[in-house]
Amino acid sequence: MIGAGGGAGALAAPRLATATTRPPLRGAALTVDVIEDAAIAWDEAGLITYVGPADGLPYGAPEPEILPPGTWLAPGLVDCHTHLPFFGWRADEYAARLAGASYAGVQGEGGGIPRSARMLAAASDEDVLAFTEVLAAEMLVHGTTAFECKTGYGGSVEGELRQARLARELAGRVAQTCTVTLLPCHAVPEGWTRQDWVRAAVTEIIPAAAAEGLADAVDIYVEPSIAFTLEDLEQVAVAAFEHGLALRVHADQLEDAGSTAAAARLQARAADHLNHASPEGVAAIAAGGTTAVLLPASTFCLGAPPAPTRDLIDAGAAVALATDANPGTSPVVSMPETIAIGCRLYGMSPDEALAAATANAAHVLGLGHRLGRLVPGLQADVLVLEGDGPHHLAYRPGHDPVLRTYLAGQVGPAG
Ligand code: NIG
Ligand code: FE
Repeated sequence: MIGAGGGAGALAAPRLATATTRPPLRGAALTVDVIEDAAIAWDEAGLITYVGPADGLPYGAPEPEILPPGTWLAPGLVDCHTHLPFFGWRADEYAARLAGASYAGVQGEGGGIPRSARMLAAASDEDVLAFTEVLAAEMLVHGTTAFECKTGYGGSVEGELRQARLARELAGRVAQTCTVTLLPCHAVPEGWTRQDWVRAAVTEIIPAAAAEGLADAVDIYVEPSIAFTLEDLEQVAVAAFEHGLALRVHADQLEDAGSTAAAARLQARAADHLNHASPEGVAAIAAGGTTAVLLPASTFCLGAPPAPTRDLIDAGAAVALATDANPGTSPVVSMPETIAIGCRLYGMSPDEALAAATANAAHVLGLGHRLGRLVPGLQADVLVLEGDGPHHLAYRPGHDPVLRTYLAGQVGPAG
């Protein structure tokens, strides 16, 4: 839901940290600016009117609420890669993987994406929405003020369109700003050949979803051993382009298939995961306009090798961070937890992680002009956090540092 605005307001805090330049922020520009003794003000429409020193608040701005020592302000966190809406968990599969089973092996034995598709198909619309609204509320408590929804558990042409409609319905019910990505090529449904399913995706699902206004982007899981190939990616890219939808790619997650470089070549908005991206893939991303979406919580839960994060940033790539929230590889909905894992496991600095989880993540959703930074004219999605700056956000995995959330200037539930 686009924030309706909750009246003008202003806050003053010991510190404020935000990316300021328009994303994508690349390489060394991936950082935040810090203002000491800061204030932020917004108008009746929920748009930011001032960010700067508290003693510079313009005449006529609302009287600011003075926040206590040990607090700081940041933009709302943007989760630019989730698999909501889905229905049901797969904790038994995680236990099997902890005991040594592989992700692909579990999927081959009746689990994985097809199992989530069966659970979604068996649930009523209201059950799916009720299950997912709880997750969205948990995300909000952890500071997520905008997020991506995806399909991919539809399991049939009609099932994919149903999941896209459920995603749009969810977007209308939750307080956050949401986008919807179509991921028909996630797993080949039972009874289909891969080629026939890709044909159905590009000739039926993508056109129908576009005609109904159900999607903002199209994604594909390139994983030749258990999912889709580079040739399939080419077809999906053409269909996305023809319908004016941004392209996303689940790239080089379980093996190096060359999909990171292919995503860059096809001018995808984002290439996501990249655990096995080659040096050529890193160079292609750094040279092009594709943002690398890194998903360290998924890496943690899979026990996978980390994405080549420092190589990407040092080569000048734009990098975003997200949870990958899904019942298989990442049952994690907390962006602070994801930032904490990203800093430790991927070698990001807390300043880089905050910029990656706000400005660059908003860019990946096509919303970089509207949210993700605390600058005048953007939506007043603001977090009041405990601590004294971004390093505190990375410091205590499992602890929720969000004290208060504002969506378009309207206060949300406490953290
Ligand atoms: O992003 N790897 C592909 N898709 C998801 C996992 C989906 C699932 O296991 O349900 C991912 O990791
Ligand atoms: Fe994913």
